[in-house]
Amino acid sequence: MTNTSSSGEMVYVEHKKDINGFPKVILREVRGCSAEVYLHGAQVTSWKNEHGEELLFLSSKAIFKPPKAIRGGIPICFPQFGNHGSLEQHGFARNRTWTVDPDPPPFATISHNKAFIDLILKPSEEDAKIWPHRYEFRLRITLGPGGDLMLTSRIRNTNIDGKSFTFTFAYHTYFSVTDISEVRVEGLETLDYLDNLKNKERVTEQGDAITFESEVDKTYLSTPTKIAIIDHERKRTFVLRKDGLPDAVVWNPWDKKAKAIPDFGDDEYKHMLCVEAACVETPITLKPADNLTHKWYSKAVKVQLSGCISCTGLYCSLDLVLSVNSCQNIFCWRAESSLPELSI
Ligand code: BG6
Repeated sequence: MTNTSSSGEMVYVEHKKDINGFPKVILREVRGCSAEVYLHGAQVTSWKNEHGEELLFLSSKAIFKPPKAIRGGIPICFPQFGNHGSLEQHGFARNRTWTVDPDPPPFATISHNKAFIDLILKPSEEDAKIWPHRYEFRLRITLGPGGDLMLTSRIRNTNIDGKSFTFTFAYHTYFSVTDISEVRVEGLETLDYLDNLKNKERVTEQGDAITFESEVDKTYLSTPTKIAIIDHERKRTFVLRKDGLPDAVVWNPWDKKAKAIPDFGDDEYKHMLCVEAACVETPITLKPADNLTHKWYSKAVKVQLSGCISCTGLYCSLDLVLSVNSCQNIFCWRAESSLPELSI
């Protein structure tokens, strides 16, 4: 794969088709990091570090076309997380073909990132029948110069009848891990969670390190903005940072359920862990945007609405930043200085 144009310049954003003809976009950075995004679901399916090592899990049985969501990477759950509502599981956004915005608005805060793509989803007539709202969902996927992967969702209510809408949401990130029994998650100890395996019963985590030896499907509530996933065998720590997304879902199907999922290999559960930045317990309510929408990306507007659990107008901003490093020290991943700015 060539990383340079015929004139020898770095190609930061490349539009391609996969071997089956499905459109995808490759983002690259000078140090050799890369990310791959399918227009189907606006789904990131690959994120590699500068050594070319894959950091996200993608099932060998993944299907890359509608009406199935791609099994792995980072599916977008919108406008419903899981079965918290009457729509299909995890909403329809992950099953739609998104369009590329060829002329995206400039960054509000960080202007030096070159490897980014904006994908847009608007309701089709069919979608409007099952979820009767107008909206514009802009997903900006950025590969930072240091290899960090940043996803920003800007969702606007464009209803003309003045009605608000309410939704739940998740970045359903599948991390690639060497051996699930050697993985520890930090940042969720002592929190309350809904146990999705026990009819969403509310339980308090007992404060022990979070490790894995059987199926897990938990929605942790009101979590810190930073969570670490430590892969001891690989000596690698993923740091997940989020904004506007108070909850975090932790999922691994383990052996029995893995066998029951058609697009998932029987033993693949050993090499993945989903830790999902989410908003589940308290849905987001978004009022219609007003005529200030041309300022959509201005910093002033972002600051005015920051936090936006219950957005009061214009748009809702939901941010995720994933970083990876080889240090497993808790003080290291909690330190602010080594991480990029959250808001893009
Ligand atoms: C998780 C849910 O987010 O996604 C689980 O908490 C669910 O309950 C899992 O099984 C996978 O969902 P799907 O629809 O992609 O098979």
